[in-house]
Amino acid sequence: MIRFENIGFRAVEKDDLNQIRLEHNDESVLLMLRDPRIITEVQQNQWFEKISCNRNNTVYCIFTDKPENVIGVWKLQDLDETNRCTEMGMDIFRKFRNKGFGLKSFHMIFKYLFESMNVHTVYAKVGEYNETSLIAAQKAGFKICGKIPESLFRNGKYYDNVILAITFSEYKKFYQKAK
Ligand SMILES: CC(C)(COP(=O)(O)OP(=O)(O)OC[C@H]1O[C@@H](n2cnc3c(N)ncnc32)[C@H](O)[C@@H]1OP(=O)(O)O)[C@@H](O)C(=O)NCCC(=O)NCCS
Repeated sequence: MIRFENIGFRAVEKDDLNQIRLEHNDESVLLMLRDPRIITEVQQNQWFEKISCNRNNTVYCIFTDKPENVIGVWKLQDLDETNRCTEMGMDIFRKFRNKGFGLKSFHMIFKYLFESMNVHTVYAKVGEYNETSLIAAQKAGFKICGKIPESLFRNGKYYDNVILAITFSEYKKFYQKAK
C-alpha cells in the first residue's frame, strides 16, 4: 500500500469488484472509454484473474484516509520495462469528483511511477470529447503531444484520441514550481 497525504492506493481485492463494476458501467465513465461495452460480473471475474497475475497491466484502488474508503481506481497499462515508459488511466468515482482527489491522485501516481518505479515517461490517452479529463490531466502536469485522429466512435461520430505525456524532468520541474 502506498500513502500520499490523505490518500493512498492498494491492490484490488475481490470485495472491491462490485463497486468497481457499478462505477465502470455508469454512463459517465463508460462513454468516455475506448471500449464502451457494459461489463458483466462473469467478465469482470475473468478480468480480475488477469490483472491479479499481470505486473505490467494492472489496476489499483485509490482510497482516502483508510484503505476501505475507496474513491476510485487507477490503471497501469503496458508498463515497458526496457524503455521505462507506461500508459496510465484513472477513474475517480462519481460522488468523489470535483473535490481535488483527481489532481492529488495524479500527483501520487506520478511520484510513485517516477520516484519508486524508475519510469521515465508516463502517457495517457483521452477522447477529445472528455473535456474534464483533458483539463484535469493538463492541470496535473501532462502535456498534449499528439492524437490518433478519428479513432474513437461516439454519439454517431468519430473523434480524435488525444495523447498526453509527462517525462521525469517535466514532473520534477512542474511539482517543484507548484510547491
Ligand atoms: C477526470 C477525473 C479523474 C478528474 O477527477 P476529479 O477528482 O473530479 O478532479 P479534481 O477535483 O481534482 O479537479 C480537477 C481540475 O480540473 C478542473 N476542471 C475539471 N473540469 C473542468 C472544466 N470542464 N472546465 C474547467 N475546469 C475543469 C477542476 O476545476 C480542477 O482544477 P482546480 O483544482 O484548479 O479547480 C474525473 O472526473 C473522472 O474520473 N472522470 C471519469 C473517468 C475519466 O474520464 N477518466 C479519464 C482520466 S485519464
